[in-house]
Amino acid sequence: MSERTLVLVKPDGVARGLVGEILSRIERKGFRLVALELRTLDRETAEEHYGEHRDKAFFGELVDFITSAPLLAAVIEGREAIASWRTMMGATDPAKANPGSIRADLATLMGENVTHGSDSLESASREIALFFPGLA
Ligand code: RTP
Ligand code: MG
Repeated sequence: MSERTLVLVKPDGVARGLVGEILSRIERKGFRLVALELRTLDRETAEEHYGEHRDKAFFGELVDFITSAPLLAAVIEGREAIASWRTMMGATDPAKANPGSIRADLATLMGENVTHGSDSLESASREIALFFPGLA
């Protein structure tokens, strides 16, 4: 089924000049770019985006990091885009990510793992509405 997911190239990825690499993988895979925006998140938006982690010990650090510098927010579309993009990103911990995935190829740290992807249809709808309220 064709579906949409939110993609972020996190501040570490933008600072390291990996935007082109990430967008290239998305385009070569065959997903369609629906929306793209470079922006620096305010704390309120970041806390809402990562709301599911509000009670975790790493929440403060996570919000500090994601608001620290510009990130690239995107919406991509295609068959099984949510699960497929999660596979392309690899596991949350880059040391455990499958070879060939973005996190395995381009990252070492759990807290600086280059990309984000929505983890369910519900998260995708919520996150897309949060980042791109104008998108139908
Ligand atoms: P994301 O939401 O950023 O795409 O990553 P994810 O689904 O793979 O992982 P998630 O469980 O949603 O965690 C969000 C981000 O929080 C950091 N994290 N740190 N120290 C820790 O135990 C820990 N666990 C998660 C990671 O940077 C992760 O991407
Ligand atoms: Mg997540």
